[in-house]
Amino acid sequence: MSLLLGVNVDHVATLRQARYALLPDAPNAEPCPCEASADALLGGADSITIHVRGDRRHMQERDAFLIREKIAAPLNLEMGVTEEMIAIALKVRPEFVCLVPESREEVTTEGGLDVVSRRHEVGDCIRLMQKNGIKVSLFIDPEVEQVKVAAELGAEMVELHTGCFGNATTQTVGAELERLRRAALVGHQAGIQVNAGHGINYENVRLLEAVPHLTEYNIGHSIVARAMRVGMTQAVREMKALMSHYPVL
Ligand code: PXP
Repeated sequence: MSLLLGVNVDHVATLRQARYALLPDAPNAEPCPCEASADALLGGADSITIHVRGDRRHMQERDAFLIREKIAAPLNLEMGVTEEMIAIALKVRPEFVCLVPESREEVTTEGGLDVVSRRHEVGDCIRLMQKNGIKVSLFIDPEVEQVKVAAELGAEMVELHTGCFGNATTQTVGAELERLRRAALVGHQAGIQVNAGHGINYENVRLLEAVPHLTEYNIGHSIVARAMRVGMTQAVREMKALMSHYPVL
């Protein structure tokens, strides 16, 4: 099986909200994240990822319902561990949720979810989702302890936070890859699916070939940015071509 790509279309909604946040029903409220999702599928996306944030800065609840209804691919809903988001997830019923930390001030999801200190709350959320047929991924820093607790809590997947890797310099990238490698090995040994996401782009994606046992990448910003030049379908196709070199074990 080849490496899977989840395309995060949040920033399509970011552009729409920049103009239409106060005019949600405008007939020309564009661009449409649901159309972008369809284009991403044509380019080979394996799933669509969206994050309905507490502050609704990009995706709105109605986007989630529309994508769920119209797009024939698994939906991965990123969500904070809050009552509001749990209620939305149970209404939208995506195939997967990815539990993320969320604070209003951050520009984007900054660190991983600390499942060690929040294990009770996270464990309750995992069980509730699973009881409703929704698989759970935990977006965590690539730390051995975080991966071990994620596995203990019974999550099906972890998504290793590649933000530090994405921001690394030529001096620090080796150490970041080593952290990811160690975390991926522990996840694999614990029998949990290991994904990666955040800050992956066309320049750095092939460096992740040094990290074994990865199943899926979740990529948003770089693909949406590339789509502005070549269109979404081609942008996804180009990323999938780069990912095809990954040595699946
Ligand atoms: N995975 C998670 C959990 C995220 O929060 C994000 C950013 O929304 C991504 C992946 C995608 O990151 P990027 O936009 O940097 O590709």
